[in-house]
Amino acid sequence: MDKQQEMLEKIGLVEDPSRNKTLAETNAIKHFGVNPETETVMLLVEVGKKINEMTSGITRNIAKIVKAEYGFKSLVIEYEQARPENFTKKAKIIAIASGKGGVGKSSVTANLAYAFTTLGKKVGIMDADIYGANMPKILGIETLELMGNADGKVFPYVVDGIEMVSTEFFVEENKALMWRGPMLGKVLKIFFEDTLWSQDLDYMFIDLPPGTGDVMLDVNNYVPDAKIVLVTTPHPSASHIAIKAGFAAKDLKQEVVGVIENMSFYEVGEEKHFIFGEGGGKTVADKLLVPLLSQIPIGQPEHGPSIYKDTEYIGIMYLNLARKLMKLLP
Ligand SMILES: Nc1ncnc2c1ncn2[C@@H]1O[C@H](COP(=O)(O)OP(=O)(O)OP(=O)(O)O)[C@@H](O)[C@H]1O
Ligand SMILES: [Mg+2]
Repeated sequence: MDKQQEMLEKIGLVEDPSRNKTLAETNAIKHFGVNPETETVMLLVEVGKKINEMTSGITRNIAKIVKAEYGFKSLVIEYEQARPENFTKKAKIIAIASGKGGVGKSSVTANLAYAFTTLGKKVGIMDADIYGANMPKILGIETLELMGNADGKVFPYVVDGIEMVSTEFFVEENKALMWRGPMLGKVLKIFFEDTLWSQDLDYMFIDLPPGTGDVMLDVNNYVPDAKIVLVTTPHPSASHIAIKAGFAAKDLKQEVVGVIENMSFYEVGEEKHFIFGEGGGKTVADKLLVPLLSQIPIGQPEHGPSIYKDTEYIGIMYLNLARKLMKLLP
């Protein structure tokens, strides 16, 4: 066996403490390269948890092999966090955040899911607005029950080809939810670890609660590769907090892909009325150096309470928005 192969096998025996398994067992080494000129070894390693307490030990153990045993001068390791075991592996994750409540996150989430579906993508929605979950209502779902299997895993609800889970499925109807922190964690655990999402989902939308709090952090822990889309109204009271939510995401090293301004104006004939003011979306986009993706006017859907069809003006805007997002996150 050549020396490099031998070294790679030894690296494979290093354990990932977040999974209690070796890198070889979890097929964690995604890339291995050697630069003979600089005598550098480069690795891309998938880990269960990409946090310093977990990865620093791995780095140390690999360095012992690469440098002490095989005499290389330097070692460059990039870590990537694996998706939770049952979670959909290849779907691009788009979390919808706003900071301020009531600006249209849930409407945007649902309508984007429909637009992506219309464009031939397979999508899921995670209604992570723990206290104000309303995705079942928005999607017109009456039965608030999920099917489970013998192992205690749940199947997402499927409506018009869209897979969906919501806290609504886990509380009695008409009862306010007064869970504390630990319960919050439990419901997200169900969504990320105990839900049998289809493995071939292309996109997953996460409807985040208002604010910049716990749920955003938890989502980041489970899927640090989730991208953020910010929703704001044109009014400074909303854009001000959307900017904060955007910076909170950036602090977590989450990529903000763009801003959607909702309830931008009301159109009467050719004339636009800026009922909630002007400029909020652009302000957020400029502050965060990301594109303003769309300005969605005020208007009720023609068929049903929440979803705009692709024959309506706003429905077509959602299709265009979906195309833009697909280009940004192919
Ligand atoms: N462009 C729009 N035109 C007219 N009504 C809208 C528009 N967008 C959202 N709405 C309505 O505004 C209300 C709030 O929207 P939605 O529930 O989507 O906001 P949210 O940000 O998810 O709120 P929350 O913070 O409570 O979760 C809903 O009644 C929704 O139907
Ligand atoms: Mg909502």
